[in-house]
Amino acid sequence: MRVTRDVLQVHNVHRTYDSGTVQVHALRGVSFRVTRGEMVAIMGPSGSGKSTLMHILGCLDRPTAGQYLIDDEDVSDRDDDQLAALRNQFLGFIFQEFNLLPGAPAIQNVMLPLTYRKMGQGERKKRALDALQQVDLGHRVDHKPSQLSGGQKQRVAVARSLATDPAILLADEPTGNLDTTSQDDLMQLLEELNAEGMTVVVVTHEEDVAVHCQRIVHLIDGEIISDSPVQEVMES
Ligand SMILES: Nc1ncnc2c1ncn2[C@@H]1O[C@H](COP(=O)(O)OP(=O)(O)O)[C@@H](O)[C@H]1O
Ligand SMILES: [Mg+2]
Repeated sequence: MRVTRDVLQVHNVHRTYDSGTVQVHALRGVSFRVTRGEMVAIMGPSGSGKSTLMHILGCLDRPTAGQYLIDDEDVSDRDDDQLAALRNQFLGFIFQEFNLLPGAPAIQNVMLPLTYRKMGQGERKKRALDALQQVDLGHRVDHKPSQLSGGQKQRVAVARSLATDPAILLADEPTGNLDTTSQDDLMQLLEELNAEGMTVVVVTHEEDVAVHCQRIVHLIDGEIISDSPVQEVMES
């Protein structure tokens, strides 16, 4: 039996946005792999293609050319329904803007991705409670987002992503709306989850965030200019 080590593989991926007269080459032949249990940062200046790459990794978008494999399976040409199923099965998301339902208490926000799972209301609630406890928010389950700090909101979002028990956590600028203390807390939480076996990919343009990862992939103008262990990047 073959044991998969690379949970994600990106082979020569291009993504071109075609808006009538103008073409934007957001990704120009990007290749890299993420090993199971790794914590990787994708860095680069604004407009370098980080979110475009994240959307492809997250099965929210497809490459214009090239291959994307999850668990050794080529998913480059899946249709929208198939991509949705992959997201549901493998992926957890954390966004800069938290993307919580403002009117719903934390527990309901965390239960939301379980809506389409075959499980009863009681099981959903139990999972959501477990996830909120895992991010130290067991005492805030009935609070709405407006009653929570930025750091707490982002931890609710982490709990929401954990509730479905994903293989991979994808975070796009997760600390972009957080103060320095909450930023460090959040990165520590992601490190803990990673230490427990979660594969984590974090997009950031901040070095303070990237140093929490083991490896840094650096994008400029849609191309990878370096892919190195974090120690090497920090020493150079
Ligand atoms: N939907 C889109 N349509 C056209 N151009 C886009 C679209 N999304 C992103 N772009 C362009 O692609 C490039 C990369 O964008 P993006 O992936 O958002 O970069 P980053 O996340 O690193 O800031 C930019 O030039 C941006 O303007
Ligand atoms: Mg972006």
